[in-house]
Amino acid sequence: MTGTTPRLKHEVKDLALAPLGRQRIEWAGREMPVLKQIRDRFEKEKPFAGLRLVACAHVTTETAHLAIALKAGGADPVLIASNPLSTQDDVAASLVADHEIPVFAQKGEDSGTYNRHVQIALDHRPNIIVDDGSDVVAELVQHRQHQIADLIGSTEETTTGIVRLRAMFKEGVLNFPAVNVNDADTKHFFDNRYGTGQSTLDGIIRATNILLAGKTVVVIGYGWCGKGTALRAGGMGANVIVTEINHIKAIEAVMDGFRVLPMAEAAPLGDIFITVTGNKHVVRGEHFDLMKDGAIVCNSGHFDLELDLKYLAANAKEIKDVRPFTEEYKLTNGKSVVVLGQGRLINLAAAEGHPSAVMDMSFANQALACEYLVKNKGKLAPGLHSIPREVDEEIARLKLQAMGIFIDSLTADQIEYINSWTSGT
Ligand code: ADE
Repeated sequence: MTGTTPRLKHEVKDLALAPLGRQRIEWAGREMPVLKQIRDRFEKEKPFAGLRLVACAHVTTETAHLAIALKAGGADPVLIASNPLSTQDDVAASLVADHEIPVFAQKGEDSGTYNRHVQIALDHRPNIIVDDGSDVVAELVQHRQHQIADLIGSTEETTTGIVRLRAMFKEGVLNFPAVNVNDADTKHFFDNRYGTGQSTLDGIIRATNILLAGKTVVVIGYGWCGKGTALRAGGMGANVIVTEINHIKAIEAVMDGFRVLPMAEAAPLGDIFITVTGNKHVVRGEHFDLMKDGAIVCNSGHFDLELDLKYLAANAKEIKDVRPFTEEYKLTNGKSVVVLGQGRLINLAAAEGHPSAVMDMSFANQALACEYLVKNKGKLAPGLHSIPREVDEEIARLKLQAMGIFIDSLTADQIEYINSWTSGT
């Protein structure tokens, strides 16, 4: 639905979904106490007064809380989807109808619409960009250089986006400060590991309803997302095989108790394959050909190119929808491969993304990264910046406090000891 009701432009599926979205946003808020405290402070201090802000994010109940917090801080926001399949249409409707936030996002939008929404976002002439995957920043850098003068800076949520920003910096085209939210310990330790771990399995289970116990699950990539996915799959009783290209990560996987194999050896053994590498075609023709009949493949990395679906399509006699987000490719070799969520992030395509309790910390980082950019306007060099350590630690302190968990602190004697070097053996 494209419209101007109520008063603002938007493109959401159906504004009538707003009551459901409102209810679900409220529910998520119960698990997001840190972001709530930041929002309450923003409401009083208005750090973003007069600033135009674009957020490109998965439009979920958790993102709703981030957008509401930024608006409470005085920002004039526009929200677009960071993936064609991750939008929760009821949330998009509620943000428009209940919070007067212009949203341009519909679940299942085609890539033309997705790209048009990126243009709409940039037409807003943002002073701050909150990005997830760097699509907005990449478009700005490639085709709207003249708008860089408007920009105070950007923030980036995800590993893939950071990889792209580093490449831009290396090429000399990242001419403004970008805050690496993913780098914060309170982000990747929890969101990438426990968030991806739980929500990826949630997506697989919602899409297929299969039992994980006793299955062989091949986790492709052992970064933070892979670690969480392998950990949780093992916890559900699956036999986990990990594949890696990095020697250090491979040792970690071995010592965490997983079998590590090259992909060609894992391919005939797996019942379920999950890609979390951030790279392209990590599962390709030579691997699909070796898989068991009925093997299930899915992706939980940011982009939909980790599985070479073109190969599958080119070698399929038939592609059949067998359940929502579940397609069976009947191959010319007589076997079939089942693809979940069209190779897009399965945790957001078939489930609801990371649970609110971890997004609370990720989005506390996003909100404070935006404030950091504004407070340091004109002072930060172009390129990537980490979230200040004190901010990261403060988020952890607030989170623990909200969880009702208290910890010890160093005695004066201990502080003196760790700051000295004279007392040894
Ligand atoms: N990325 C992963 N899970 C998410 C969620 N629940 N909301 C926004 N972005 C996400």
